[in-house]
Order: sequence, then structure tokens, then C-alpha cells
Amino acid sequence: MGSGPGSIATVGMIPQAYTFLQDVSELHLMYTCENCGYRAPKWLGKCPGCESFQTFVEDAEKVETSSSNSPFNMPLQVLSEVTIDSENRLTCGISELDRVLGGGLVPGSTILVGGDPGIGKSTLMLQTLAQLQKQGFKTLYVSGEESVRQIKMRSVRLKSDMLPILVLTETYQKRIRSIVDEHRPDVVVIDSIQTMYAEGNNSAPGSLSQVRDVASRFVSLSKQTGTPVFLVGHVTKEGAIAGPRVLEHMVDTVLYFEGDRGHALRILRAVKNRFGSTNEIGVFEMKDSGLAEVSNPSQLFLAERPLNVPGSVVVPCMGGTRPILLELQALVTPSPLGVPRRVTIGVDTARVSLLVAVLERKAGMQLTGQDLFLNVAGGVKADEPALDLGLAGAIASSCLERPISPDTVMLGEIGLSGEIRAVSQMDLRLREAEKMGFRRCFLPASNGSRAGKTKGLKLIGVDTLSEALKYWFE
Ligand code: TYD
Ligand code: MG
Repeated sequence: MGSGPGSIATVGMIPQAYTFLQDVSELHLMYTCENCGYRAPKWLGKCPGCESFQTFVEDAEKVETSSSNSPFNMPLQVLSEVTIDSENRLTCGISELDRVLGGGLVPGSTILVGGDPGIGKSTLMLQTLAQLQKQGFKTLYVSGEESVRQIKMRSVRLKSDMLPILVLTETYQKRIRSIVDEHRPDVVVIDSIQTMYAEGNNSAPGSLSQVRDVASRFVSLSKQTGTPVFLVGHVTKEGAIAGPRVLEHMVDTVLYFEGDRGHALRILRAVKNRFGSTNEIGVFEMKDSGLAEVSNPSQLFLAERPLNVPGSVVVPCMGGTRPILLELQALVTPSPLGVPRRVTIGVDTARVSLLVAVLERKAGMQLTGQDLFLNVAGGVKADEPALDLGLAGAIASSCLERPISPDTVMLGEIGLSGEIRAVSQMDLRLREAEKMGFRRCFLPASNGSRAGKTKGLKLIGVDTLSEALKYWFE
């Protein structure tokens, strides 16, 4: 309504700067989505790649033809004659980081560390360099955001101020390159990629074209010299700062540092890793003297668990190769609204709606007209199908106002007809539950015997949701 053909026509028009005619043949005017990097020859209102709106920016890219400008500039080789040193990864000395990286730093790799401002990226990077430096590696920390004084103050806090880490405050890529060539550090951190600029690129630092240009130069620096390079990148939920998603295609590994600034808990997650698994997570706690590794996350996540209250259930979940026990909390309460609310934090809302439907139809639970709130304690995100039984358990427990015994864990995927399906890596999960002192575990019957025992843990196999419901509150 109200938008005639005239207003539609103006949508595609954006002001363009003048270009000198003699430059036109060198420029390929393209438009790129700032969010996902999708490229198109004309401006589009909606990105076909990531479906976000108004994210296309003009992106004049020079067409390079001369081979001397190639980022690798390597000779032609025969694969069978290429030799590699067997797995000479650098271990950072921070085991949570090493695990997420897939067993340490691979020479010549580029790692993007993304995260919201203030989450602790600079702290993590400085601590990593300090650990490497302690092992005798030469490290370089380049900051385009903070003065050397500020970096020193942080390092005093981290008790690493007496280490000979090389520090440089610089934003010009070419100068950083010449310093790296001169001093040959073993590991380089660029904090942050949004502040850097490259020679011959006149766009503002942080703009899409600049970020991509400068990142590709750091990638070639890393490939040519064999030095692992960490690129720190700010990510905002709105994608206001250009680049991070575009960078994902260029680097070898993408790590996201997540957490709620109100909580001390921080999770380092691999979303792309050419040299390892992407399921791994590293768990840290932000303390006064920097990030502390959490080697037993289950203990941390269960620390404040209330016992014998309705709506609280513990599930053995997998964080990559490591089992972690998480507490799921549900609150079911009569809704004052016509359409009741389904609010979830840390779990998929669609999944929960599905479980609510199954609970109603297959287990006779009354959830119509009830608001439902679900939360994973500790501010963690959990999206495994194995959590289904735990979610259903928490909802049922809150709905019936009956607690599930606090020595119980449960896991299993729930199908639409209420059947409980098998889950993977059962042994690891059971061992973790046993280690943390749990005595009873509800699991899919198809995952093994219907009833059994592993040392301290009583196993109860269930086939359907209604069967589980019978045993939970007995
Ligand atoms: P920082 O590493 O500067 O975040 P980023 O580089 O991601 O923007 O960390 C900022 C926050 O961490 C800041 O709010 C202070 C807090 N912090 C601690 O709580 N303890 C510490 O030892 C340090 C160094 C920082
Ligand atoms: Mg920082």
C-alpha cells in the first residue's frame, strides 16, 4: 500500500561517486553483501545469499593480471615430490585453545578470532602469546586499537608484563609486513583486522573492501613465511562492521569467542577449521587476572543447580569430543495472553515447539494456554537432538510441579510419534555422568540393554515418551 511504481524504482538507486573515464577499464564495479560476501553486478535490496536486506555496498575491485601480484607466487610443483614436515604444530600452552584449534597451531595458517567487543579477545590473544613466549617462541602483538601503555597495563594484570613479547602499534599492513620480514616472529596477532589498511586501497579501515584486501595480504604473509597469524575481528549481531563473514572464506580457521558480558563464562567455538573438528569448544572463565581455563566444565555448569525443584534436569551433552553435563530449566505457567509464549534461551525454539506438541499428543500433557520458558543454565547454547528427552523431562516436571530426582540424568532424541531414538557417543556421556556422581540415567532402549548398570550408574532404557514419563516421577 502507498508505494507506487515510482517509489519502487528509487530503491535500486544509490548515489555513486564520479569515476575518471581513463580508470574505468581497470575497475570492475561489483556490489558485495557486507554480511555474507555474495557478489552481484548490480545493487540488490535483498541478498540472495543470506537473505538480509540493505547489505549491498559498492565494491570496486581492480582486475589484477600481473603474476607478481599473486598472493602465493609459488612455482608449479609435482604433488608426489612435495615434502612436508610431519605434524609440526605449535602447542599454545592453553589446552582449551589447543583443542579448539585441533591440536595446536599449524604453520602458515590464518586464524580469525571473532567476537563482540569487550568479550575478551585481546586478553585471550595476549595470554596465548605469553604462553608461547614462555616456551621460547618469538611472538609479535600488533595493535591498531590500543596504545603500548594500555597493552602493558593489561599484561601487568595478566602477570605477563616481564616477557619479551614484541609489541607494535600500527595499522599500515605494509609496515607490519616489513617488521615481520625483519624480525621473523614465530606467531603474529593482528588486533584487529578492522583497524588495518593496505597500500593502494583508499577505502576507510573497517570497510568491506579494505578488510578483505588487508586480510588477503595477511593470509599471503602467513602462507609465504609459514608464520601462524591470528586476526582479531569484531562482530556485531547486526553485522554493522563490515567483513567478518567475508573473511571466513579466506582464512583457515574461524573461532568465535562467545559469552554474556554479565557472566564470567566464555566459550571459544570453532565454526570453521581446515585442520580439525568444528565441534570442539573451549571453556574459560574471565577472572581479575585474565582468562582461566575450565578443565571440568560440568562442575561449573552444575555448581548452582537447585536440588529437588520442578523443571530442572541434567543432560550429558557433547561439546565436540568432550562430554559436558548441562542443566536445563523449564518454567510452565498459566498465560495471561491469548497466544501463549514459548521463550527459549540456549535451545532452538522450533525444537521446543515440536516437543510441546509431542508431549501434548503422545503423553497427554496439558500445555495449551500455558507460557513456557526454557533456559540452559550458564548461558550456553546447546543444539543436540540428544537433549530432547531432557527438554521434555524439564517441561513435564514443571508442568506437573513434581521434581525429578537430582541424581538423574537423561538423554535421547524424540521422534514425532513419541519414540525415543538412539544417540551417539553414549559411553563418553555415561562416564561423565558417573564421574559427576549421578546414579540414574534414562536413555533410549535402542542404545543398548533396557536396563543395566555401569559401575555406579543405573541405566533405564525407554522406548517412548509416555514410558519415560511413568518412571520419572515414581
Ligand atoms: P578485552 O580483551 O579488551 O576484550 P576485546 O578485545 O574482546 O574487546 O577484554 C575486555 C573485558 O575483559 C573488560 O571488560 C575487562 C575484562 N577483563 C577482566 O575481567 N579481567 C582481566 O584480567 C582482563 C585483562 C580483562
Ligand atoms: Mg580488544
